[in-house]
Amino acid sequence: MRLDKYLSNSGAGSRKDVKAVLKKGGVTVDGKMVKDAKTEVTGEEEILMNGMEVLLERGIYIMLNKPGGVISSTEAGRTATVMDIIDHPQKKDMFPVGRLDKDTTGLLFITDDGQLAHELLSPRKKIGKTYIADLEKDVSDPEIQKLEQGIPLKDFTTAPAEAEKLSARRVKLTITEGKYHQVKRMFGYLENRVTGLRRVGFATLTLDEELAEGSWRRLTTEEVDDLKK
Ligand code: URA
Repeated sequence: MRLDKYLSNSGAGSRKDVKAVLKKGGVTVDGKMVKDAKTEVTGEEEILMNGMEVLLERGIYIMLNKPGGVISSTEAGRTATVMDIIDHPQKKDMFPVGRLDKDTTGLLFITDDGQLAHELLSPRKKIGKTYIADLEKDVSDPEIQKLEQGIPLKDFTTAPAEAEKLSARRVKLTITEGKYHQVKRMFGYLENRVTGLRRVGFATLTLDEELAEGSWRRLTTEEVDDLKK
């Protein structure tokens, strides 16, 4: 990763600020002054800025607006994964909390905090996940009620959910389970088909509408605190 990016990602300042410090000769890598922002570093080096060590970040909490066409896995294979999008020196320690289908877009929480991930994924915690589903056919009010009450799928009946009709063919649905293809299967039971699925909420997090698909940002301290509550 580029040195200027490493410094700003580690919280040493904005990209512009760290570039200015670099230019003035305020950064050393393993004892040598480095002025070129493009210098590649791995994070294994001793990096000082204005004489202070820029330490590796611990407890990384990221919100990604997942684009379609990438899988939510950490395994490098032939298919692009969400981790290919995350340009961070410690990304090898991080993983997405839960999965979204390849064609599903929206909020994905990525962290290196195994304990928090474990708690958020625990079925006992009944963590809410909110989706906006676009549908092939109109949805009726009785169908909205069915979604709310529980849908008998092959392997289980869905727990009570919150469903709101946003328009004839668009529904906002909050579920507390996270079974494979769950939202698509719920609408499948109603003989409808999901043509587009976007997650807009996960636990206490709401998708930042300013975040373009394919971009990510760190959570704010407040967002992290709320998640841990
Ligand atoms: N339900 C689905 O069907 N797909 C997702 O990606 C998430 C929930």
